[in-house]
Amino acid sequence: MLKHTMLISEDQLQRRVAELAETLNREFANTTIDIICVLTGAVFFATDVMRMLTMPTRLNFVKVSSYDSGSESSGTVNLHFSSAIDLQGRTVILFEDILDTGITLDYLLKHLREKNPQALKVCVLLDKPERRKIDLQPDYIGFQIPDEFVIGYGLDYQELGRNLKYIAVLDPSEYRH
Ligand code: PRP
Repeated sequence: MLKHTMLISEDQLQRRVAELAETLNREFANTTIDIICVLTGAVFFATDVMRMLTMPTRLNFVKVSSYDSGSESSGTVNLHFSSAIDLQGRTVILFEDILDTGITLDYLLKHLREKNPQALKVCVLLDKPERRKIDLQPDYIGFQIPDEFVIGYGLDYQELGRNLKYIAVLDPSEYRH
């Protein structure tokens, strides 16, 4: 098991998920929405929120890779949709696990706007404002966190740690060899 220290408990996560779902239910009542879940990290977050939504909802996935295998962003982004999706005129909510430099989200938004959705909103679980390189403000944020490498609830370090039920700070001894 990766050495770590808990930052956001399972209970805090679930309470925030419920609050966000309540906000979306209020703002998008009677609207059919398209969730786009950014793989892999946002799967737990997006599907937990989705289970609490009461409007008609579609679920789509997009795979983006911006980090090679370590803890630093490579600055390059690759994008793959799980299937050809038609977003013309749709109300789209993009779900991300973490907003760091903003490079990934900026690229995704540019790409998604070309598909002419009627509305395009962004919901991120974790926001690290100190790390931002591109000035982006998500519509919905779970938690703002300090500039620490975090794992759990979908977030990984070298593909491990996603199954933790809470968000934790990875012990630097795990990557400073
Ligand atoms: C993470 C996260 C975002 C991106 C944020 O993805 O899910 O997509 O990095 O960083 P940025 O704001 O600096 O661009 P990652 O490549 O770790 O993929 P994963 O979800 O599959 O682990």
